[in-house]
Amino acid sequence: MVARYTKNGNPTDVIKVQTEDLGPVSPTGVVVKMLYAPINPADLNMVSGTYNFNPPLPAVGGSEGIAQVIALGSQASKLKVGDVVLPVHQGLGTWRTHANWEEGDLVPVTSIDIKHEYLASLSVNPATALRLLTDFANLKSGDVIVQNGANSMVGQSVIQIAAAKGIKSINIIRRRADFDQVVGTLKGLGATVVVADDFIRNGEFRNLIKSLPQPKLALNCVGGETTTEMIRLLAQGGTLVTYGGMSLKPVVIPTRSFIFNDLQCRGFWMSQWYEKHSVEDRLALLKELSALVKANKLQLRLEQMPFNNFENALNRAINSSQRDKKIVLSF
Ligand SMILES: NC(=O)c1ccc[n+]([C@@H]2O[C@H](COP(=O)([O-])OP(=O)(O)OC[C@H]3O[C@@H](n4cnc5c(N)ncnc54)[C@H](OP(=O)(O)O)[C@@H]3O)[C@@H](O)[C@H]2O)c1
Repeated sequence: MVARYTKNGNPTDVIKVQTEDLGPVSPTGVVVKMLYAPINPADLNMVSGTYNFNPPLPAVGGSEGIAQVIALGSQASKLKVGDVVLPVHQGLGTWRTHANWEEGDLVPVTSIDIKHEYLASLSVNPATALRLLTDFANLKSGDVIVQNGANSMVGQSVIQIAAAKGIKSINIIRRRADFDQVVGTLKGLGATVVVADDFIRNGEFRNLIKSLPQPKLALNCVGGETTTEMIRLLAQGGTLVTYGGMSLKPVVIPTRSFIFNDLQCRGFWMSQWYEKHSVEDRLALLKELSALVKANKLQLRLEQMPFNNFENALNRAINSSQRDKKIVLSF
């Protein structure tokens, strides 16, 4: 079975779950059975045709996940039956029960011994969180970062990885029906301060954070007004990194922040990091994250939903304000 789309559009309209004949495996190919695959915003943007990279049509949805090798092509030599693998490139199509893939498109991760649903979900969001906290500022214990979209999976990972390094976090989320519960969850993960986006222009907000050092780093998942407000909080020479645009609004930067605060504005795309780094670097990144998982310093809030109920899983993934866990398809 595959979740396939033949044209770009609204994911609930264009994705159809259908049976597919796998066909013969190529000499350098492997047959895999999918184990787990998350539904991420980038996957939905690919289906809509609005992402930076859109797979040729018809396409199978999903980029992240893990699979198990169940058969080998006659010349496949790098993998063996039973290996757990993940796809190297975006857009390979992980929302399917089985696939014939080239072994060169896969990285073996059998040796990383954490829960499989976790292993399937580390490469996009927690990996981005780790890079955001590592590559853009020289953060030390006691430093502060600020982020919006703090309830996203990236945001939750940022909170925890920061806390593990002694870095304090100011977290901005949208107001929603279960707001107090979400605040409690994020504080339980190690958030220092959690506020709603309609509170950050309020004088009381400045009071709430006045005892903290000014943030060195602002992480932008959303765009629009909250981003402008985060910039106003940054310390001299601070850095804004944009990695998401959930509100679809542009980033507006106060001129004075450039002139008087020497603001640095950067962008980050995890796929580009993977393209520029080796498989060994990728495995080192996964091992660093899995060590945090094993030390109980990184918890992934996942909601498993069976692939045979794909429509429900997709609806739940799309309606983020009805959930605060990442939807992961189980096969
Ligand atoms: N650049 C990269 O390499 C990279 C890597 C990973 C992820 N990302 C991006 O990071 C973002 C988060 O991804 P994720 O998988 O962590 O998300 P997620 O767990 O699926 O959660 C989505 C988040 O977006 C928020 N959101 C949705 N619509 C919004 C709007 N109109 N205004 C403000 N917030 C809104 C939701 O807030 P509520 O809880 O209030 O609904 C929720 O916190 C996405 O834009 C994704 O594409 C980028």
